[in-house]
Amino acid sequence: MHGPRRRLKVVVMTIMTAFFFIIVEVSRIASQDKRGWNKIRIPTKPFWGKLSPNKAYWNRHQQKLDHLYNPILKGHNASLGGLLPDWLNDTVAQDSCEPDYRVMSQVENFSLLPDRFKDFLLYMRCRSYRMVVDQPQICKNQPFLLLAIKSMASHFDRRQAIRQSWGRAGVLANKTVVTVFLLGNATAVDNFPDLSPMLAYESSMHGDILQWDYRDSFFNLTAKEVLFLEWFNTRCPNASFIFKGDDDVFVNTLLIIKFLKGLSPAKAQDLFVGDVITNAGPHRDKKVKYYIPESIYVGKYPPYAGGGGYLYSGTVAKGLHRIMNKVPLYPIDDVYTGMCLRKLGLAPQKHKGFRTFGIEEKYRNNPCAYKSLMLVHPRSPQDMIKIWAWLKNTALNCQ
Ligand SMILES: *[C@@H]1O[C@H](CO)[C@@H](O)[C@H](O)[C@H]1NC(C)=O
Ligand SMILES: *[C@@H]1O[C@H](CO)[C@@H](O)[C@H](O)[C@H]1NC(C)=O
Ligand SMILES: *[C@@H]1O[C@H](CO)[C@@H](O)[C@H](O)[C@H]1NC(C)=O
Ligand SMILES: *[C@@H]1O[C@H](CO)[C@@H](O)[C@H](O)[C@H]1NC(C)=O
Ligand SMILES: *[C@@H]1O[C@H](CO)[C@@H](O)[C@H](O)[C@H]1NC(C)=O
Ligand SMILES: *[C@@H]1O[C@H](CO)[C@@H](O)[C@H](O)[C@H]1NC(C)=O
Ligand SMILES: *[C@@H]1O[C@H](CO)[C@@H](O)[C@H](O)[C@H]1NC(C)=O
Repeated sequence: MHGPRRRLKVVVMTIMTAFFFIIVEVSRIASQDKRGWNKIRIPTKPFWGKLSPNKAYWNRHQQKLDHLYNPILKGHNASLGGLLPDWLNDTVAQDSCEPDYRVMSQVENFSLLPDRFKDFLLYMRCRSYRMVVDQPQICKNQPFLLLAIKSMASHFDRRQAIRQSWGRAGVLANKTVVTVFLLGNATAVDNFPDLSPMLAYESSMHGDILQWDYRDSFFNLTAKEVLFLEWFNTRCPNASFIFKGDDDVFVNTLLIIKFLKGLSPAKAQDLFVGDVITNAGPHRDKKVKYYIPESIYVGKYPPYAGGGGYLYSGTVAKGLHRIMNKVPLYPIDDVYTGMCLRKLGLAPQKHKGFRTFGIEEKYRNNPCAYKSLMLVHPRSPQDMIKIWAWLKNTALNCQ
């Protein structure tokens, strides 16, 4: 026999053999099922394993929180056999803002970590920073849509472009829109010039700045998320929907409102949509911005929506606020939000209108391309003004 024919024969034989085994196995399981139909099988040995400390610091911290908030173990110290194992017994408060110097010995090779990790780990428990600029009344008209934009003190032009385009507060498509900018502090540690007088002026002009007194760094974006949820819960709990995103994206607010108006009440309640990333895990290449060492986290990431921008309901925001203390802060903010959603039993939904990785070059200057998109990243302040003018142009004829 010649090569290809022979190979075909081998393939056919293999498939037939595989089928045979599947049929045998299925009938075996089925007959077992019949015999054990209404028998309750009691495990002969304990079906749980002894909890042992994970080697990665974040995972170990989560084990502690799971233990602390476990509703079954709570109030049943006796069932634990008396004292907790040392590694589960945490004598420092979960939300302490004092630097936790124990991490220096608890995280393997701490001294070799890049500085941003050291800073993050030392303050990983801190979830409350002093608020320096607040807008207590900004939600008094119960917004339909709250736009919460992650910005930095120095990004004056981006904020102004957003105010003059897609983020203009007021009534849009017959719905109330409120915009707030989320800021930390541009600190001297990071060599920022003193921008506070200019920021104070901007804030008095526009009344849309929220600022907390902490160092506005990439790894502190998770603190920004937590502080925002806290603020939302006290100052704006009746907003129907929230868009949270970066200050370098273009958002088609008109399309977002249209989409939200069209949701069924059930869909609207559990809404969380964005550019969802599934089956991702930590980057192990030290040169990548998103690098996470194995001494800090092991495992996959839950599905999460890219931090460039996502849209969710006020109900989900309150759920996130309720659950966030049960998940240790993670250095990457959008992954952290995904972790909190998973704890809530929710999964973010992918929407193809969210383009956090941009769009094809040939569509960049095509006004009609933006009609059907909800978010495009990245866009300059000038782009924002230009694209918004295109969208507001009623003469624009796209089929
Ligand atoms: C459980 O142990 C903690 C810490 O030792 C203690 O504060 C708490 O009162 C105990 N709870 C019960 C129900 O015994
Ligand atoms: C936790 O550790 C502290 C200090 O080491 C000790 O006094 C306490 O009894 C421990 N608590 C439990 C529940 O093991
Ligand atoms: C605007 O909203 C109000 C109240 O929700 C409603 O009565 C009115 O019909 C709406 N107008 C348009 C043009 O949708
Ligand atoms: C922010 O950082 C600047 C420079 O480091 C500092 O002077 C200021 O006290 C900090 N806090 C606030 C609220 O601006
Ligand atoms: C986060 O902010 C706090 C307070 O300013 C600071 O101590 C800490 O070093 C910051 N963390 C990072 C990773 O920058
Ligand atoms: C939110 O709505 C509830 C019930 O309608 C109301 O009691 C509460 O004052 C509102 N809160 C804010 C901050 O507007
Ligand atoms: C810690 O450093 C040692 C020596 O460089 C290395 O062999 C080891 O793999 C490191 N451990 C971790 C968890 O990175």
